[in-house]
Amino acid sequence: MYRSHNCGELNASNINTEVTLAGWVQKSRDKGFMNWVDLRDRYGITQLIFDESRSDKTVFELAKTLGREFVIQVKGTVIEREAKNKNIPTGEIEILVTELTILNAALTPPFTIEDETDGGEDIRMKYRYLDIRRNPVKNSLLFRHKVAMEVRKYLSDLDFCEVETPYLIKSTPEGARDFVVPSRMNEGQFYALPQSPQTFKQLLMVGGMDKYFQIVKCFRDEDLRADRQPEFTQIDCEMAFVEQEDILNVFEGLTRHLLKEIKGIEVDKFPRITYDYAMKTYGNDKPDIRFGMEFGELNEFAQHKDFPVFNAAELVVGIAVPGAGNYTRKEIDGLIDWVKRPQVGASGMVYAKCNDDGTFKSSVDKFYDQDDLGKWAKITGAKPGDMIFVLSGPANKTRTQLSALRMELATRLGLRKPEEFAPLWVVDFPLLELDEESGRYHAMHHPFTSPKPEDMQLLETDPGKVRANAYDMVLNGNEIGGGSIRIHDKATQQLMFKYLGFTEEEAKAQFGFLMDAFQFGAPPHGGLAFGLDRLVAILGGQETIRDFIAFPKNNSGRDVMIDAPAKIDDAQLKELHIKLDTI
Ligand code: AMO
Repeated sequence: MYRSHNCGELNASNINTEVTLAGWVQKSRDKGFMNWVDLRDRYGITQLIFDESRSDKTVFELAKTLGREFVIQVKGTVIEREAKNKNIPTGEIEILVTELTILNAALTPPFTIEDETDGGEDIRMKYRYLDIRRNPVKNSLLFRHKVAMEVRKYLSDLDFCEVETPYLIKSTPEGARDFVVPSRMNEGQFYALPQSPQTFKQLLMVGGMDKYFQIVKCFRDEDLRADRQPEFTQIDCEMAFVEQEDILNVFEGLTRHLLKEIKGIEVDKFPRITYDYAMKTYGNDKPDIRFGMEFGELNEFAQHKDFPVFNAAELVVGIAVPGAGNYTRKEIDGLIDWVKRPQVGASGMVYAKCNDDGTFKSSVDKFYDQDDLGKWAKITGAKPGDMIFVLSGPANKTRTQLSALRMELATRLGLRKPEEFAPLWVVDFPLLELDEESGRYHAMHHPFTSPKPEDMQLLETDPGKVRANAYDMVLNGNEIGGGSIRIHDKATQQLMFKYLGFTEEEAKAQFGFLMDAFQFGAPPHGGLAFGLDRLVAILGGQETIRDFIAFPKNNSGRDVMIDAPAKIDDAQLKELHIKLDTI
């Protein structure tokens, strides 16, 4: 038996017990005649004591050779500690060691394995297995496990069945590039790794599975950000014989369950807002509603004066920033520079201070009197002591810019509190999105999403106006899940492919299997997928998903620990029918 107890469980009630522990040497403090060692495992830290007067001489001498991260096994007696440590559960006791075995020596680790480490991001990624020994990373993985278990429990209790779908498939369009895998047995042909199990889960509905879920890896070759990894995990779900309302209820229930079980937070019914409302009010289809700063459209009160910039704009829109009325000229100029950065792209910004006495002082006093500014304050909801910031220009662009400013200011003002949770649904997404470069429409969610029946007639005349039976779940300004009611008949699916610019042959070649299946009794169905990594990160109070993935990729899509991707040798290339000069 390697161990009788773990390093986190012994306390005063175990005094005088003989125990065997195993773990890693966190650190040792050698005082000559007395040597203390902190022994660490996944469960905690237990202090070991080697005492010249009480320990066996060879054991005492061997303990002096222990280095950091050595793997050891000790036998000894639990005794009361003289200097107690109230901060850890084992802080009242220590182990007077009688036997010591070095199970494995260790090189000095390249960074300290403690909560606050001296290791930078790169070195910790290269030695991720050492980073996992640290509490912050270990706890994130345990937290992820807890969330995944709660998801499985909740969905199984509702009769959802977890079914595995294949990884070597054909392209599933989710808007990113595919990762492809060459086939040795089929020269010149490639599998695609799934961007999601979308088509398979729909086929499971045709197969009568009725309620499906899967915690599943998805692969997308897209540019990486804090909330994106090339391989990530979805909680993928589908249900048959349902309408949008049924789906929203089930998955709102799941999210509410997670918030309660994991965070101890009870949330009321989630607000539902339309995509149009979200864009007009927050300039964003994944609004953070933990704070206000809602957009106020000012065209009516800002145009037709003598300010040419506003007169020429499609949209003049502002936000009231709480308590920002005392910003200095320098701070305001800093913010104007911030919105003018290429990443935001505004050409300038107008401001109006709301003084405590109810008057206003703006950067455009020349054109607007107190009465005008009072109207701006009313529309943006500004109060004395606030600051109104106003942007103008083409409607969509300006909304996006103001949204970026809203989020930045909320972060600076500490309004994005990680322990506050504000989930909501965004519904009625447009079915199609115009790709400005190609001038073609593509599916905003994916091509299997059903249009709202009442908007079908607009497909011919005004495709951009057609709304879809599609919805996203948003949590604290992050899209954590999205889904839709699907098309379940061949004719509509064919029509959709046609609108998306597929020829009949292309549609048949890529998705013939799905349209064939629709002819064999496909039930009405719909579903959604949550991003597990994102959900876990946000529940954990963070937005960087990498911290919650055991072995993540870096921003260039590399695993620096195993050094992947990597070249493969000529023989393997040959076997795969890939000629070097073609790559
Ligand atoms: P969608 O593409 O919206 O929908 O993806 C669902 C959720 O997956 C998460 N997500 C990601 N997480 C980390 N890294 C990424 N690269 C990444 N891409 C997406 C997001 C997102 O909300 N098949 C549909 C679902 C459906 O219609 O049922 C789909 O995949 O949290």
